[in-house]
Amino acid sequence: MTRDDRLSVAHIWVAIAAFGIAAGMALMQALSRASLELPWRSAKLYYLSVTAHGVLMALVFTTFFIMGFGYVTITRSLNRPVDRRGLGWAGFWVALVGTALTAATILAGKGTVLYTFYPPLMAYPTFYIGAALLVVGSWCWVWAMVASYRAWRREHPADATPLPFHAMFATAILWQIATVGVAVEVVVLLIPWSLGLTHTIDPLLARMLFWYFGHPLVYFWLLPAYAVWYTVLPRVAGGKLFSTTRRSTPGSRPGGSCSTPSSPSAFSSPAW
Ligand code: HEM
Repeated sequence: MTRDDRLSVAHIWVAIAAFGIAAGMALMQALSRASLELPWRSAKLYYLSVTAHGVLMALVFTTFFIMGFGYVTITRSLNRPVDRRGLGWAGFWVALVGTALTAATILAGKGTVLYTFYPPLMAYPTFYIGAALLVVGSWCWVWAMVASYRAWRREHPADATPLPFHAMFATAILWQIATVGVAVEVVVLLIPWSLGLTHTIDPLLARMLFWYFGHPLVYFWLLPAYAVWYTVLPRVAGGKLFSTTRRSTPGSRPGGSCSTPSSPSAFSSPAW
């Protein structure tokens, strides 16, 4: 396994662990909803579990999986090493520490505010600090994606960007733009409020900032799913691509254009 593969695999393992724990909670929630008399069944525990489930699935599983998959598209689609791998690892650890902080706060019963953490529900400050760290860690991933793309572009000034990476790069840019909303909400509104530094909060502003991020959250799955479905799977199955990106001819604009399935060598990677 290469050093780059270790980076992506570490992210995917955290995603799988988050999914596994959250899926266990989901089972308990479903059984509780079916009115099964589980031990310690209570409304308090139910909402604690739903919060942990929502945070681990929607925020942690999504973020780590997409980060890991982004690195895979650098190595398999751009067919080059991750530029700024150290930054990638720094982002991984920052996001992991943030996840642990938020998860521990929820499990301690100090952060039962659901995954949307709408005020006036208030969590212990470590819930929001952990969420902020998760976002900051993911920004390191965005910058490693940008650095890798710039390095690839320098090496291939005339080539069209391979489609799998193109889709993941769009995902990274979308992530960077959308996470600004939740970062501002957490850092400017929620952390000072939960620390008692401010005494009032604007719930509507907080919700608006959350959903500035929350709605695009679905595209962090959707865009990579398109990338895999239209570009990776046909290739892996040995079939034809539905559409492909033509290599630029000398004098044409970098970035190229979409064309009909003409060139089987549309991707610079032998793998994809
Ligand atoms: C593994 C199968 C899953 C089961 C059986 C399941 C089940 C549940 C249940 C029972 C609830 C509580 C609903 C309520 O009481 O209102 C819930 C909430 C939720 N689930 Fe899942 N779920 C699963 C997978 C997922 C996945 C894959 C995601 C996202 C990637 C997800 C995201 C959420 C979110 C965001 C909430 C709302 C949490 C909140 O309000 O704070 N779930 N789920």
